[in-house]
Amino acid sequence: MTVRFEIYVEDKDARFQCAEEQRLLHAMQAQGLGSIPVGCKGGGCGICRVQITQGEYETRKMSRAHVTEEDEQRGIALSCRVVPKSNLSLRLAPRSAEEESESAA
Ligand code: FES
Repeated sequence: MTVRFEIYVEDKDARFQCAEEQRLLHAMQAQGLGSIPVGCKGGGCGICRVQITQGEYETRKMSRAHVTEEDEQRGIALSCRVVPKSNLSLRLAPRSAEEESESAA
């Protein structure tokens, strides 16, 4: 039986189901939701960037242009490259690391 996890998008107060081994963004889209912005779906554009605040997950290879090592340690990931290992809670983080540090300065 396929295990399904519940994914909670904090900014939108929205929830969707994601099977283990299914990528977050693909699962969301399959359920007709638009809570996370959808782009290339292949890890290249960075528009689906999120910060995972709770839960266990694994990531497939992600472009360092969109997710730095430091980002990764803070739970930043490209949702088209994330598979859940538990229920997750996340918020949208569509900006690049560069923009983030500019606005913090
Ligand atoms: S949709 Fe382009 S990086 Fe995820």
